[in-house]
Amino acid sequence: MTLRIAVAGGTGQAGSEAVRAARERGHDVVVLARATGVDLVAGTGAREALDGVDVVIDASGSGPGDDPTEFHEAVTKTLVSVGAAVGVRHLVVLSIVGCDRAATYPLYAGKLAQERETEAGGIPFTIARTTQFHEFAKLMWRVGKRGPLHFAPQMRSQPVAVREVGEHLVDLAEGAPHGHAPEFAGPREESVLEMTRAYARAIGGGPVIPIRMGGDFGRAQRDGSLLPGPHAKHGRQTYAEWISALS
Ligand SMILES: NC(=O)c1ccc[n+]([C@@H]2O[C@H](COP(=O)([O-])OP(=O)(O)OC[C@H]3O[C@@H](n4cnc5c(N)ncnc54)[C@H](OP(=O)(O)O)[C@@H]3O)[C@@H](O)[C@H]2O)c1
Repeated sequence: MTLRIAVAGGTGQAGSEAVRAARERGHDVVVLARATGVDLVAGTGAREALDGVDVVIDASGSGPGDDPTEFHEAVTKTLVSVGAAVGVRHLVVLSIVGCDRAATYPLYAGKLAQERETEAGGIPFTIARTTQFHEFAKLMWRVGKRGPLHFAPQMRSQPVAVREVGEHLVDLAEGAPHGHAPEFAGPREESVLEMTRAYARAIGGGPVIPIRMGGDFGRAQRDGSLLPGPHAKHGRQTYAEWISALS
């Protein structure tokens, strides 16, 4: 059945892959982003954009200047209130594996707040927790730069291809609301430090120095709290395959 699907954050890494997958399957897709004239924090443009929409996929993400909790609460309130008014029947939310186990970290607190707002919102929902995308190494390379040096955390992850995340979100959008869907992760566990080193080699960058993050989040990075559980679904592309495809 052809659906009208709105993708919040449809210009971002995950959202653009959901847009691509949904269009390839013949769905009618609306992109909700400031770049397309819809600000989900301010609420502007949402009413018109959501007209006639069956399912909303929320793959929005806060920016560097945002408080993640305030951002996700505001976005979810807009999607839920406008969505209910126009008859949206399913809200699919992209979240992060382990966000509840490391919620002292602001980004994860924001994802947990987004989940809670979704659960309380009244629109039948599916929360899709995924692990870090393979592109996480690229982010670590960029944000870990201090002068001429690059640092990356000692962190366990089971990274997943963002293209497969987009397909997973559309699979869920095509199905019935699920509450909490099984976690979605890549095929094998990796070290974020070694992922960042492999990324640096692939782009001709220099050495990467390990750091141990402090506090609850640092502990969660190292103790496996951010890894998927035994009932997770798994994507196919390994991190090594993603790196090979870069060159
Ligand atoms: N990166 C990872 O490894 C990972 C793993 C699991 C889950 N996640 C979660 O998945 C979500 C998406 O991540 P991502 O890396 O794909 O994000 P991203 O590339 O940073 O994209 C963020 C999207 O949100 C939109 N956006 C930001 N502010 C907005 C506003 N006020 N109104 C409407 N749209 C707005 C952006 O478009 P405009 O700027 O045009 O508004 C963009 O399309 C995030 O919540 C993230 O926490 C990420």
